[in-house]
Amino acid sequence: MSTTHVSTVLVTGGAGFIGSNFCHMLAELRPDWRVVNLDALTYAGNLENLTALEGHPNYTFVHGDIRQPEDVRRALDAAGDPGQVGVVHMAAESHVDRSIQGGLPFVTTNVAGTQVLLDACRERGVARFVHVSTDEVYGSLGDAGFFTEETPLAPNSPYSASKAGSDLLVRAAFHTHGFPACITRCSNNYGPYQFPEKLLPLIIANAQEDKPLPIYGDGMYVRDWLFVRDHNEAILTVLEKGVPGEVYNIGGNNEMPNLRLVKQVLKELGKPESLITYVKDRPGHDRRYAIDASKIRRELGWEPRYTFERALPLTISWYQSQGEWLQRLRSGAYREYYSRQYGA
Ligand code: NAD
Ligand code: DAU
Repeated sequence: MSTTHVSTVLVTGGAGFIGSNFCHMLAELRPDWRVVNLDALTYAGNLENLTALEGHPNYTFVHGDIRQPEDVRRALDAAGDPGQVGVVHMAAESHVDRSIQGGLPFVTTNVAGTQVLLDACRERGVARFVHVSTDEVYGSLGDAGFFTEETPLAPNSPYSASKAGSDLLVRAAFHTHGFPACITRCSNNYGPYQFPEKLLPLIIANAQEDKPLPIYGDGMYVRDWLFVRDHNEAILTVLEKGVPGEVYNIGGNNEMPNLRLVKQVLKELGKPESLITYVKDRPGHDRRYAIDASKIRRELGWEPRYTFERALPLTISWYQSQGEWLQRLRSGAYREYYSRQYGA
C-alpha cells in the first residue's frame, strides 16, 4: 500500500454537514496541511459551523459555485502548487425529499458541477481527487444481502440518479484521461452540524420541543448508520492511500429500521413514544440499505472507531447544547421548505 503526499486539501462543500466536520478533523489530525474550502453557501451551507477555524493560518474559505469554472479556478489558485493538492469533493444537493420536489438543481450541481470541477482539476494536474458519493446509487436491497463495490448502479430518486451520474463522470475521467480519482460510497451519516431536514436532527429537534415526529410509511425502512467522524477518517484514508480508479464502500455494519432509531432517541431524551406520527410515505422510498465495507478495511486498513451506543448519546447531547444553532436553521428558508414537505 503506497501513501500519497499532499499538503493542501481543497474541500468542496466544506460548510455543509460532513464537510464542516471534515475541516475540523483536518485541523486536528493534519495541522500542518492547508485547507481551502470552496462552498456556494446554499440553504445547507452554514459558515457558523466553521467559526472555530476562522483566522486559522492554514484555513481559507472561498465563496464560490462548483458550476462556475472561474470560481473553481479561484479556489485552485488559493490552493497553490497542484502537485501538493488533494481535492475532496463533497459539494452537492444532498436531500432526497428536495430532489422529489424538483430534480433540476441536483442535475446542475451534482452532475454538471462535478464535470466543471473535474475539468479544472485535470487541467491544473492536482495530485489526488476523492469523489464523495453514496450507497443510494446502488438502489434498494431486500431483506438480505449487502451492497458491494460490484453491485450494479440502480438509483431510484432524482438525488441518487444525479450522484450516480457524477460517479460515472469521475470514472470516465480516470479511464479516459488517467485522472487520479477515487470514489467513496457511504451509508447514512449522523453527528454534529447536520441540517435538520434529515431524519436524525429533525427528530431530536422536534422531540426536544414536544412536537410530532414525522415517520414515513410504516417506519420499517432500514438505514445503515455511521458516525460522521468515522466517515471522514475513511475519506482521509482514501485520500492518502486509495488506488486511483477504485471505488471504496464505507459503512459501520449498523443497520436498523427507522422506528428503532427514533425510539432510541426518545428513550435518550426521556420523551414519550406518543410523539411518533405516521405520515405519507416518500415516493419511491428505498426499503433497505446495507454496506459491505470489507474492501476498505482489508485494502486500506480503515476501521470505524465509534459504536452506535457511544456516538448516538454524543450526537444527542451536541444538539441539546446547540439550541441557538438549531433555532437559526429552523427559521426562515428552512421553515418554508418544511411546510411544503409536511403541510401546515
Ligand atoms: P449538505 O447538504 O449538508 O452540504 C452540502 C454543501 O455543499 C453545503 O455546504 C452547500 O452550500 C454546498 N453546495 C451545494 N451546492 C454547491 C455548489 N453548486 N457549489 C459549491 N458548493 C455547493 O451535505 P452532506 O450531508 O454534508 O453531504 C456531503 C456529501 O456527502 C454529498 O456529496 C452527499 O451526496 C454525500 N453523502 C452524504 C451522506 C449523508 O448521510 N449525509 C452519506 C453519503 C454520502
Ligand atoms: O444513504 C446515504 C444517504 O443518506 C445520503 O446520500 C443522503 O445525502 C442523505 O440525505 C441520506 O439519505 P436518506 O434519504 O436515507 O436520509 P434521510 O435522513 O432523509 O432519511 C432517513 C430515513 O428516514 C429514510 O428512510 C426516510 C425516513 N424519514 C426521513 C425524514 C426526513 C422519515 O421517516 N421521516 C422524515 O421526516
